[in-house]
Amino acid sequence: MSATGVAAQFTEAELKLLQALVYQECGMHFDERRAHFLQDRLLRRLKECQLDSFYSYYRLLISDAGKQELARLLENLTVNETSFFRNKAQLDLFHKYILDDLLHRKQERRDFSLRIWSAGCSTGQEAYTLAMLVADGLAYYYLRNPLPFEMPSPKPVVPPPWKVEILASDISYSVLRAGQEGIYTESQMANVDYSYRLRFFDKVGERYAIKKALKEFVHFDFHNLKTEYLPQRNDIIFCRNVMMYFDEAEQKRLVEKFSRCLNAEGYLFVGHAESLLGLTDKFAMVHRNSGTAYQRVEVQM
Ligand SMILES: C[S@@+](CC[C@H](N)C(=O)[O-])C[C@H]1O[C@@H](n2cnc3c(N)ncnc32)[C@H](O)[C@@H]1O
Repeated sequence: MSATGVAAQFTEAELKLLQALVYQECGMHFDERRAHFLQDRLLRRLKECQLDSFYSYYRLLISDAGKQELARLLENLTVNETSFFRNKAQLDLFHKYILDDLLHRKQERRDFSLRIWSAGCSTGQEAYTLAMLVADGLAYYYLRNPLPFEMPSPKPVVPPPWKVEILASDISYSVLRAGQEGIYTESQMANVDYSYRLRFFDKVGERYAIKKALKEFVHFDFHNLKTEYLPQRNDIIFCRNVMMYFDEAEQKRLVEKFSRCLNAEGYLFVGHAESLLGLTDKFAMVHRNSGTAYQRVEVQM
């Protein structure tokens, strides 16, 4: 029976071929536990493309004409679960200790730029959470270390002379569009307390829109973590709940690339269920009050 008649079946070889293609394209590894998810999503795409066999679908994916379909398949395979203020203990470590230390070190060097990357940002809640925390962190920093000139009025989200860039990247165009739009439902706002809602959101009907002043320093872009080129000169990278879908070899490669695109003594944050243990000697663990991060180790010459 044809694929559109629903009875298309994989042979072992076809499944292996498609698994290898997905791994090669984006690093996602579908082991036995997740193979049925891969099969289910492949079946859906096969029907959508009105193709009769998985081998013809594979041929489409590797052809020049199949580039769009490949992107669509990868979108269908990603898990996009996310939330504002996810992993509070880790964000406290970022906000109260690491950011403060970083601002201090940078100011001493008269370097007023801060570059943070949310790699695998999904629909943007992680990047906007970081933006809110940085805005707070800078305001509190200047309460204790006043500037030698008057603060403009109304107070900007990022006080001069600081320049903050938050890059939010993902492999899925649909989540990037949602992040760029920056409008969230009441249930997506569950972890956002009222003071943040008042300062950084506008109410649009039943939903909440990120204010322009905060949005201005979050930039969304497509980026595949599998590629060799990674955005450079980051002070901090958040790559949470992404590596867990990669196998160990791919995780090692990614962490190695992260160490190269972080500034000296920069920090990497990974998800609650992820760890760099056994993957690298280029990072040292920083642990405080149940929050964990990794700092790049500088080699002494
Ligand atoms: C579970 S979400 C995590 C979102 C956010 N970092 C968090 O912790 O709440 C994982 C995201 O990683 C993205 N992703 C998966 N493979 C990727 C790759 N090779 N390159 C870039 N992003 C990828 C997915 O599209 C998805 O949006």
